[in-house]
Amino acid sequence: MNIRKAVMSDCETIYQLIKHYALEGKLLSRTYTSIYENLQNFYVADDGGKVTGIASLHILDKDLAEIRSLAVDPEYKGKGIGKELVKKIITETNRLQIENLIALTYQIEFFSKLGFHIVDKQSLPQKMWKDCINCPKLPSCDETAMLKKVWQQELIKK
Ligand SMILES: CC(C)(COP(=O)(O)OP(=O)(O)OC[C@H]1O[C@@H](n2cnc3c(N)ncnc32)[C@H](O)[C@@H]1OP(=O)(O)O)[C@@H](O)C(=O)NCCC(=O)NCCS
Repeated sequence: MNIRKAVMSDCETIYQLIKHYALEGKLLSRTYTSIYENLQNFYVADDGGKVTGIASLHILDKDLAEIRSLAVDPEYKGKGIGKELVKKIITETNRLQIENLIALTYQIEFFSKLGFHIVDKQSLPQKMWKDCINCPKLPSCDETAMLKKVWQQELIKK
């Protein structure tokens, strides 16, 4: 299994996976346009040409990025694919020198195992909620905000 950047031919699978979990109320749905526009943010787990999982990295601020649209094909759950996708997003967030990575999620145990901890949603910047406007769960969002510090600027040496 290989985690790679998404390409245009992955969009149908990305759309269908998100739709599947959006119908279960586990993910925020996305339009094709939103997927095309954000394609450069997406990673896919590729198992011999079959996309078995997806995740995207969305930069919110100088020191805050969000993991979005994390989903593993139902037939491939429990094989470590979700974990590898999150690790890839962590590596990329670190490479970009962004201090904090956040997830809005129902999967508390999954993210805890990857070193995320629960934070107060009220402490998050306003722009975090920009894309929630179309969510049917607004205004009573019941997802948990979980954060991991993934990068720290080195102290400037004298
Ligand atoms: C959440 C999700 C991405 C996990 O992917 P996965 O490939 O099945 O998970 P992994 O096999 O990588 O699991 C990694 C670890 O988390 C644990 N874990 C996974 N899902 C879990 C869950 N729902 N509850 C508790 N623990 C869980 C696994 O047991 C494993 O533990 P281990 O490292 O001790 O063996 C996947 O279940 C999914 O697509 N869910 C629906 C969409 C969703 O909720 N996305 C998250 C939105 S933020």
